[in-house]
Parts: sequence; C-alpha cells; structure tokens
Amino acid sequence: MTSFKHLLLASVLTGVLLLPGLLDARRNPGYSVAGMVTSAEPYATAAGFEILAAGGNAADAAVAVGFALAVTFPNAGNIGGGGFLVYRAPDGTVSTLDFREKGPAAATAGMFLNHLGEPDPELSRRGLLASGVPGSVAGLLEIHRRRGSGKLTREQVMAPAIRLAEQGFPVSYGFHESLINNKEWLGSIEPTARVLYPEGKIPAPGSMFRQPELAATLKEIAAKGRDGFYTGWVADSLVALMSREGGLITHDDLAAYRPVERQPISFRFRDKRIFSMGPPSSGGIVLAQMLGLLEPFKLKELGHNSAAYTNRVVEAERLAYADRNHWLGDMDFTPVPLAGLLSAEYIDNRRSLMPIGRAGSSRLAPPGHAEHLETTHYCVVDSMGGAAAITTTLNGGYGNGRVVPGAGFFLNNEMDDFSAAPGKPNMFGLVQGTANKIEPGKRMLSSMTPTIVTTVQPDGGEKLLLVAGAAGGPTITTTTMQIILNTTVFGMNVREAVDAPRFHHQHLPDVITREPDTFSAETAGRLREMGYEFRQRNQIGSASAIMVAPGGWLSGWSDGAGAGWK
Ligand code: GLY
Repeated sequence: MTSFKHLLLASVLTGVLLLPGLLDARRNPGYSVAGMVTSAEPYATAAGFEILAAGGNAADAAVAVGFALAVTFPNAGNIGGGGFLVYRAPDGTVSTLDFREKGPAAATAGMFLNHLGEPDPELSRRGLLASGVPGSVAGLLEIHRRRGSGKLTREQVMAPAIRLAEQGFPVSYGFHESLINNKEWLGSIEPTARVLYPEGKIPAPGSMFRQPELAATLKEIAAKGRDGFYTGWVADSLVALMSREGGLITHDDLAAYRPVERQPISFRFRDKRIFSMGPPSSGGIVLAQMLGLLEPFKLKELGHNSAAYTNRVVEAERLAYADRNHWLGDMDFTPVPLAGLLSAEYIDNRRSLMPIGRAGSSRLAPPGHAEHLETTHYCVVDSMGGAAAITTTLNGGYGNGRVVPGAGFFLNNEMDDFSAAPGKPNMFGLVQGTANKIEPGKRMLSSMTPTIVTTVQPDGGEKLLLVAGAAGGPTITTTTMQIILNTTVFGMNVREAVDAPRFHHQHLPDVITREPDTFSAETAGRLREMGYEFRQRNQIGSASAIMVAPGGWLSGWSDGAGAGWK
C-alpha cells in the first residue's frame, strides 16, 4: 500500500509516471488523482505541480506554468506576447480571458505594404513594427487575481519562474537544437545573441541556462504587479527600444492595455458540451462549425484516418476555414455574424456542400453568407475539479527575435496575424479578408483554441472530460478537433489521442497537409483518386491535454512530454 501511495505522490510530482498493471498494454499517459499539469516543457510543468502541491488551484498553477514557460521555453512561452484562457471552476461555471496583443495606436492598415502595395513579410515578422502591445503579463496576473485560490500570493506563484531564470535550468536537447537552427538569425541581433549565446557559444545540452535580466523583470512584476511591466523601468526599456529602432509601441499603449473577459463559445457535440475561445480567436467558431458539420456522420465506422473519414473531416475543415478567413476578426472592431455562423440551420446548409467520396474545391466553397509550431498550450486540472486551458504565443518562434535590452524578454511578431493585405497569404499561408485588417487598438485574429469538454449526464449535469489545445498557427484548431474526435469517437486514451498522426486543411492553399505516418500508402492512394493533393510536414500542431480517465484518474499527455521540446 505504501508503494502505491508513493506512486501516487510521484505521479503528482512528475505527471509522467505510469501505473503499470492498472491498464492494458496501450501506450499510457501520466496518471494522477490529485491534480495534473501538462505543457510543452518539463520544468514549466513541474512549476505547475509545485504550486498545486503548495495548495494552489488550477488557476494558480496555470499562472506559474505561464511565467515558467517564458523562462524555459523562450521560443513560444512569453511575457512579451499574448494568449487566451478557458477556465472551468469546480462548480462548473466556465469563463474565458482574452489577453491577446493589440495593434499599437499608431498602427495603420497599410503599414506592411511596400511601394508596390505588396505585403513585406520582413516588416510584419522580423522588425519592431511586427510587435503588438503585449498582453501576457496583464492576463496571467488577472487570472491569478480573479480565478486563483486566494491562498497563494503573486510572489509565490511567480517564484518557480524567478528561480528558473536566476538559478538556471539544464539545456534540453530540443532547446539546444533550436539554438543551433536559429543561430544565424538570432546570433546576429543584440542583445538577443548575448542572452541566447553567452560568450558567442551555443549552450550545450545539460549546461545551466541562466537569464539574470529576465529574472529582474519577473521580480519587478512579482513586486509591483502589472505596473512592474506596463509602467516603470521595464516599460521604459521596451519603449526606448521602440523609439530608437522604429517601433510603434508607446507608454500610452502599454498603460492602456487590459485583458478582457469574453463569453466562451459553447456548443454540443453528441453527448459532449464543448467550451472554447471566441473572437478575437477563430478557434471556438471553427471548432464548432467543423464538429457541427461532422456530427451526423458515422465517423467511428468509417475508421480513424481512413480515406472516407479523411474526406469528411477535410471537407468540414475547408468550409469552416473559408468562413474563418472571410468573416472573423476582433468583434470590438468588426461585425461578426456569430449567431448565424453557429446556427444549426446554417451548418446543416453548409453540410450539403460537402462532397462525399471526392475532393471538393476551395474555389467552389467560398465563405457562406451568414505556425510554425511556435505557440504553446498548457493545461491544469486541480483536485477540486477546477480546470484551466491556456494557449499563449509570440507568433513565430522567438517572436520577432528581439529581446528587450536590460529586461531580457522576447517581443512578439503578432502583427503578422492581421491581414496585411486582404486576399494575400500571411506567414501561415492563410488568405484572410478585411474583417481582420490592421487597425489601431484592434486585436489580430488568432487560431488559438484552448478548449474544455464535458460529458452531459442524463440529468443535465456535466462532468469534466477533457482539457486540450495546441500550438501551430491555423493547425491549432484542426489539431484540437482531432484530439476531441480521437478521445470521444475513437475511445483513445489521452496519450494515444495526442500521439496519433494528424492532417490539416485550411481552405487555401487547397492541399491536405499531413504528417509522415498519417495515412497508409493505400489510404493515400485512395485520397489521391478522390482528387486530393498532399503536402507533408514532420509535425502538425503541438498539443497538450488532460483527460479524466475511467475511475476518475486524471491522465495527461503532451507532444513535448517525451522529447522535452518539440
Ligand atoms: N499566432 C498564431 C495564432 O494566434 O493563431
């Protein structure tokens, strides 16, 4: 019995320990009864467990993970970017928080166009103009203030991140590889090079990676709250960089930034209720449309990743992304026909455009009338049943590559998520419309899809089933949908659901992007006969998920769980 207790304790602390013998020979996720944390990076995951063990709830632990990811996963974890939370309180109430970056007050619709009127990707991705006003710090602090247990102070939930920045953490093989791959670019920018390549060298796997300037910034935030970032010396350092090198973010932009609580997108899929993020993220609406389109099909009988299944799913993706790219934007600036896009009647009508057994055409499936993997998703469930799903991003890996001098954090290049030139592709190949054009103070459209799934009980009550989300630009939403289908339709455990190879279609370009093992040769041949074209990518999306397994066990897995970094 003692060893069983030890197993439970260890599984709580590591989140990856398996309980052999309790399950069959399937690939097992980590199991725990007293809370679960999953993220793309093990030291950040451990920060979440540390806060749960100290008596924090899911929100406290999520805040600890968020700040820790800014230290240990600097290509996507951040304090210089933004994100979204979907939170389910132990009483079942679901809320969201939008802490997406905003266009600075001086932003203009044509700011990324060259003299020929063409979008200049160097400007929207690499320069200082690429940065939106960061929302992460305001968001994480608001989550702690409004959803935290009240038992742990800001200093306590930020302590693991400060320790990791100050004392360092061992460089993983994945981080080392990422530093090799980006050396030419990031090694040529100061002070980025000084932070990432101390003494001009690529840090070796296992060596301690310390970030004293970032530690000082985190301490300032811990001591002063949002003022420690949005005013004071950290803000001065950011604004000085902007004014010195042609960026737009001002003190007024920073001081004015506020996260916004928004209604979750909530919908039924069979006996499940799904809660996800609404505008300015496209995630919830696209997820609702895709699952609504797929609802009547006998997906299980078609077979996981079979040609017939892929045909249905791809055609649902095509239609949903057509609407996304045309209609969606920040609803504070642009009208979005939300009710129409989500109505059963509209979705039923759209379903009639799905060709069965052959490829549709994006030209003939216009909108209806009604990344790189460099974002990151993390999940926490506490022992009271509280659940937090957070996706956060700098957009591209290491954002625009610029570390704020003296403050040690990376700036986002989220402005590229706007349509710089409506009708022209952005860095993810998304061809978007005027609803997402650049405007001062507007939030750029996102694909982030932090999602919580419950099972609706015969008496109408709901039980928590799944917390999930992903990184990967527009593939975030299709990745999240495949995890929902893998668990709820195909009965996979959470590890199998995350590990299963994925595919993606986003209306334009009109191709199925697939991982190397997604389809057998025979299935690929049948899909080609139907008229589909393929593009191969080593990985589609990078997901983290927690599922309540039979018996109430909390099971968790992440694409980063095996390798540390992906
Ligand atoms: N930057 C990726 C997204 O928000 O969709």
